[in-house]
Amino acid sequence: MDLHAEKILILDFGSQYTQLIARRVRELGVYCEIHRPDLPSEDIRRFAPRGIILSGGPASVEAPDSPRCDPFVFEAGVPVLGICYGLQLTAKLLGGRIDRTAHREFGNAEVEVISARGPFSEFRPGDRVQVWMSHGDRVEALPPGFEAIGRSGNSPFAAAAHESKPFYGFQFHPEVVHTPQGKAMLRAFLFNDCKVSGSWTMKGFIDEAVATIRKQVGEHGRVICALSGGVDSSVAALLLHRAIGPRLQCIFVDNGVLRQGERAQVEALFVDRFHVPLKTVDARARFLEKLAGVTDPEKKRKIIGREFIAVFEESSRDIQDAEFLAQGTLYPDVIESVSYKGPSVTIKSHHNVGGLPEQMKLKLVEPLRELFKDEVRALGRELGLPEEMVSRQPFPGPGLAIRVLGEVTEARLELVRRADAIVQEEIRAAGLYKELWQAFAVLLPVQSVGVMGDERTYESTCVLRAVTSVDGMTADWARLPYPVLERISTRITNEVRGINRVVYDVSSKPPATIEWE
Ligand code: XMP
Repeated sequence: MDLHAEKILILDFGSQYTQLIARRVRELGVYCEIHRPDLPSEDIRRFAPRGIILSGGPASVEAPDSPRCDPFVFEAGVPVLGICYGLQLTAKLLGGRIDRTAHREFGNAEVEVISARGPFSEFRPGDRVQVWMSHGDRVEALPPGFEAIGRSGNSPFAAAAHESKPFYGFQFHPEVVHTPQGKAMLRAFLFNDCKVSGSWTMKGFIDEAVATIRKQVGEHGRVICALSGGVDSSVAALLLHRAIGPRLQCIFVDNGVLRQGERAQVEALFVDRFHVPLKTVDARARFLEKLAGVTDPEKKRKIIGREFIAVFEESSRDIQDAEFLAQGTLYPDVIESVSYKGPSVTIKSHHNVGGLPEQMKLKLVEPLRELFKDEVRALGRELGLPEEMVSRQPFPGPGLAIRVLGEVTEARLELVRRADAIVQEEIRAAGLYKELWQAFAVLLPVQSVGVMGDERTYESTCVLRAVTSVDGMTADWARLPYPVLERISTRITNEVRGINRVVYDVSSKPPATIEWE
């Protein structure tokens, strides 16, 4: 069956929640894509959506340069759901009025269901549902033919619908967790109005992706894949292996700034268990040489990025007639280029394998470019990747080099590696691994005085960093239980010679960042 037969088009007006809308839709088993707000009618026609969702956005529809959609959206003959800005734009385009003077509304609100239609069809009139509001403007008068199907204390048109056409609008956000029944609303819109069947599953995705890869790569094409041991490259490798077997060649670069046991783990999994052709390149000395004397975080990143490309290129030279390079690009990276956004600032450069394809003149195979991270994990499980790999916390490309503050030497790397191994063990043992976005050790270029037995010590300080986060963009320090902190601290100071003090980082992001460099 064609997994892409029933597609929902999401037009992005710049809301921080747009990706969340897409993830909710996908969770309901429906394929959707996010596109720029002004997608022209020809493109909408070509996309052939079963329904269209207009996202929220930070602008006011009354502002001169505010983003608009092609009016064809309302002539395409498919259901339309406008969320927040999407509702205001619907009102504006179809002849309603916007009130810019209303009080801003932000936070929880209660909506009373007036009419159990469209997205409200799983409710009954009179039901009160908790919703999340976040808007400045509101609709003052609905366009001709529309009626309110829900109201809140502050918004007489908290939910609106056309009397005869499948056009709906919400003043609130059904996609966020603070609207507990939001998923039921989206489900009703998708399954009743858009008449989808919910056929988008990772099981189905595998068959389709395998066919697509085979078609792109051809009968004899060979693919090289940079395996890092992270979730994305691991899943991409397994998927490719499923599609083309031994014509896939993975390369794992040991850059000397990996965690304890990482290389052995990757080899055991891919070679012994999955029989994936894997070449390990021991480039530890080379990286360390280049990093000698470097203390600036951005320089460390650049050196590691550059060196990786050099090593990878050299070691793939003897792989005969490989024409393709696999990359674990995910959908959020793809969306970046189409979304409506103001100029964003790069705070840290993230050069991992960026630059590889240009340099190597290989064609890209990106089997995950339609997927969100949660889907990649689900796909990994379908492909038999063990849970500990699937639910792995992120680990930065520059590795431990940016967790050894100051100069990176083998001796200092070994300290942080051993301390980090204890952190990983104890966090897992406490059952906290999945709850945390990341937990790790950082070695400071600071020595302090301690006592051990009868002796005075003067040794390094290690930071324990543990954060919760949804996407890494913002983060909060984790309130780890004292007994866990105690075990980690005791074990590190007892077992890692050279560290005599452990401190806990209680900073959030912002104003701090997750990593220390
Ligand atoms: P920060 O420190 O900016 O990190 O709050 C946010 C997330 O990104 C990871 N990170 C990196 N990942 N290359 C990567 O692949 C990098 O250079 C890099 N720097 C930070 C960090 O671990 C966190 O999850």
